[in-house]
Amino acid sequence: MKAAHIQQPGPPENILYDELPSPIPGPTQCLVKVGAVAVNPVDTYIRGGMIQMPLPSPFIVGCDLAGTVMSVGARVAAFEPGDRVWGTNQGLLGRQGTFAEFCAVDECWLYPTPAGVSDEEAAAAALVGLTAHLGLVRDAGLRKGETIFVHGGSGGVGSMVVQMAKTIGARVITTAGSDLKAELCRKLGADFVVLYKTQNVEAEVKRLAPAGVNVWWETLREPDLDLAVGALAARGRMIVMAGREARPPFPVGPFYVKGCTLRGFVMFMATPEEQSDCAEDINRWLVEGKLKANIDRVLPLSQAAAAHRLQEESTMGRTGAVSGKIVLKP
Ligand SMILES: NC(=O)c1ccc[n+]([C@@H]2O[C@H](COP(=O)([O-])OP(=O)(O)OC[C@H]3O[C@@H](n4cnc5c(N)ncnc54)[C@H](OP(=O)(O)O)[C@@H]3O)[C@@H](O)[C@H]2O)c1
Repeated sequence: MKAAHIQQPGPPENILYDELPSPIPGPTQCLVKVGAVAVNPVDTYIRGGMIQMPLPSPFIVGCDLAGTVMSVGARVAAFEPGDRVWGTNQGLLGRQGTFAEFCAVDECWLYPTPAGVSDEEAAAAALVGLTAHLGLVRDAGLRKGETIFVHGGSGGVGSMVVQMAKTIGARVITTAGSDLKAELCRKLGADFVVLYKTQNVEAEVKRLAPAGVNVWWETLREPDLDLAVGALAARGRMIVMAGREARPPFPVGPFYVKGCTLRGFVMFMATPEEQSDCAEDINRWLVEGKLKANIDRVLPLSQAAAAHRLQEESTMGRTGAVSGKIVLKP
């Protein structure tokens, strides 16, 4: 099969696209013919060696996938050949990645793809959808009628947070780096969009939520905690989930006096049960049209190295060149 893989961590050019043996599914695994995969910033950190993880050799990059089950291991109970499935959480913690024509994936990390949802949409909603759901429902406990602020409403995670928060019934304030991205945020359901390059975020949030926001979702890799804690309402909850190197000053007084809570998480440490609970809601919302994948562009899988370069420049280099997900097709 064709696969996008590395021999060792390094720049995007380390990704080779050529023939590798097709995987043989283990007893609890499904062999999936991949229809689409999507790029996440974490793919680039692992490929670049910024996150150290045990890697199979050669290591196929990528976490997200959607496709069709070709065969199943002897102990697989939930799927059979011909089923359409999506999933994520591959290419992590020693598991092989997804950027290939075929993947052997444990059934606990796969979910049925609803009729009417394409492989491109399912792959693009996978890691970012689970992340948004875990943070909003399990960790922040966002409730109907509350106000949430999310940094980067047109980004991979942000666009899922905006849509899910609206579905839960919250009032959503987000940011965008251009008028075009602000328009996209509004289409996704944001009630208010602050243009962070030309407007004062602190003043705008104060104007839009004078009593503070109930949830502050931080997607930035260098969070400004003075800004975030200052904007939180009494008993506000803050979610951090990016910026492994970040060591910002923490405003202790304003935080505890307001009785706030800080929660951090990585989606890949959530249990299979937690992730499949999220996937159930995601599937239902995709079918109901309450959640849409935010696809920036679709490329052939042979362009995996270029896609990594683009994602890296956009997220870490902050060019903002990508607005949502890069999807690739074998
Ligand atoms: N903990 C986890 O489980 C988990 C899961 C997924 C992702 N992550 C991490 O979360 C971060 C975001 O991921 P992603 O996939 O959403 O990345 P992304 O698609 O590149 O989105 C980044 C967003 O940040 C916005 N942004 C950049 N600089 C900004 C600034 N100064 N002020 C306001 N907004 C700004 C961008 O907005 P504009 O384009 O409008 O400028 C964009 O919407 C990454 O670091 C990723 O590694 C963590």
